[in-house]
Parts: sequence; C-alpha cells; structure tokens
Amino acid sequence: MPNLLIVSGRSNKSLSKDILRELNGVGKEVPTIITDFPNKEIFVKYKESIRGKDVFIVNTFNGDPNKDLVETLILADTAFAASARRITLVLPIIYGSRQDRKSSPRTPVTISMMAKIIKSVGVDRVITVSLHAPQSSAAFFAAGLRFDNISSAQVFLPEIIEQHKEKDFIIVSPDAGGLAKARHYAKVLKTDIAFADKRRGPDRKSEVMNLVGDVRDRNVFIVDDMIDGGGTLLNVANALKENGAKDIYCIATHLVLSGNAVEKLQDSVIKKIYGSNSIVKNNLPDKFVVKSLGEILSKVIDKIHLDESVGEVLEET
Ligand code: R5P
Repeated sequence: MPNLLIVSGRSNKSLSKDILRELNGVGKEVPTIITDFPNKEIFVKYKESIRGKDVFIVNTFNGDPNKDLVETLILADTAFAASARRITLVLPIIYGSRQDRKSSPRTPVTISMMAKIIKSVGVDRVITVSLHAPQSSAAFFAAGLRFDNISSAQVFLPEIIEQHKEKDFIIVSPDAGGLAKARHYAKVLKTDIAFADKRRGPDRKSEVMNLVGDVRDRNVFIVDDMIDGGGTLLNVANALKENGAKDIYCIATHLVLSGNAVEKLQDSVIKKIYGSNSIVKNNLPDKFVVKSLGEILSKVIDKIHLDESVGEVLEET
C-alpha cells in the first residue's frame, strides 16, 4: 500500500476523485464507512490500517457546513487514534474564513476557533485555497499547525490572459480586504486595479459605499474569494455599470451560491462567472464556468508528501 493515502469525506467526493486521478497512482484512497446514526450523529471507520501513513483528508463545507465540520473533525480524530503518521486536512474552503476578526463587540473570531479545534484532534497540517483573509493563516501557525494557502489564480489565469488581449480588463476587488488577490491578477495582466468600499450592516447584507478607481469604458474582471448569497457581487456589478463600465466578468473561487443566488446572478449584468469545484454545484447555467481544483491540489499534496517546495503555488499576501 502506498504511504500517501487520500480519505474522501462525504461533502465533495468528485473533488477527491479528481485529486486521485491527477495523482496518477501515487496515492490511494482509503476505503471508509462514513454514515449517520438515526439521530444524525456521525460514525466513521477506516476499513484498512492507516498506521504509519501520510493521510490527506479531503472535505469541504457544502450545503450543511456545520455537519461537514463535525465529520471532518471525526475523520481526523479517528485517523489520529488509528496511528496515522501525519494528518493533513485538505479543505479548499474553510468554515468561518469570513469571521476573521471581532467585527463588533461580542462576536466570534471563528477562524481562530477553527485552528484550535483542528489542532486538538491531532491534525498536523491544513491546505486551503484562496483563503478569505490570507493573514488568518497566523491563527493556524499560532495553534501549532502547518498551513498552506494555495492560490487559485493559476487555474483561472490562462483563459483570462487570452481574453485580456482583446478586452484590456481592469481588475476590481469587491472590497478592500480582497486587494491582495486582485493585485496579483493585475500584476500578471499588467493592468490597473479598482475596488469597492463595501460595508455590511448588522443584517450581514452588503452595500457599496464608493468605487475607488476609474472604470469608465473599461471591461472589468471582478476578483473575489467566494459568492455566497450573491449580494456583494450584484451590488458591485451594478455600481460598476453606474460608473460607466462595459462588460463585467467575475472570478470567485468558491461558488457557495446560497438561496436564490444563481437566479439573481443569471438575471444580472455580469457576463460570465468563473469559479471552482471547491463546493459541488450541479446544473449551473452557462453563465458559470467551473474549473477543477484537482490538478493544483494533487500537485500540492504530492509535493508535501515528498517534502518538496510548494512555494510557487502559494497565495500572494
Ligand atoms: C466578503 O467579504 C467575501 O469576499 C465575499 O465578497 C462575500 O462573502 C460574498 O458574500 P455574498 O455573496 O453573500 O455577498
């Protein structure tokens, strides 16, 4: 049995499959039983020994993130108890990534809690993609975890570079927090950048206060880490149009697409939305272009397994 083992949680089996295919025989999937008791408690069993192995647990936060979180923790805790040599969580999107600071008194910093509980179940390392606030990695290091925040840019850039030749895009970040990601795209495309001054009210709804930068008569690529309810993207796209932008495209690595986000975005001024399969979304309309993270994650897993550098795929901070 190879030393590199992949464990597939239930939340994104298709991503695990892509990773395993790209690993091309280097790793093997561990057969598991993951099931619910009648009261919805989760039960896990590794059907083969994982003693001494380099175990990568792939799961995401999909549909029912609270359940996915508990399942991930049980998988890790069970791997620890079963004497895995090293345990890495591959979580393309992390629960609580947007709750990265006390946004007002008596509110949680959930990402820091995540680091603490992940450490407590015996995990050694976490791999994620396009983390909402790259500086949140500090919470994981402080908890004693190795942490790799992988940039999804290389998944999207080849197509954008091609389109840019004709469209001469300006890159737009929907908020000040996303500027580092947007800057990376602007640097590669050798183009300008603008951003929206976005606020969220106590109801968590977003509002664009101001647009910083000149988008008049420009084709625009909005770069964001995720689309959840779609409000941010819609508001920014509408503000861009009001400020004279031409065609509007978007990249959002994580297509959470809660509630009626798909319908709202389908009816919007946005021409195309590029996202990844970090979350499973079936039957999306043609406006959505979904790229697999399988190749990039398999590369990173392989490098980590071999103790080789993953520097060139890390997120710019
Ligand atoms: C915000 O801070 C994130 O980068 C996304 O812009 C946001 O989470 C998207 O949420 P929604 O689609 O619900 O506005």
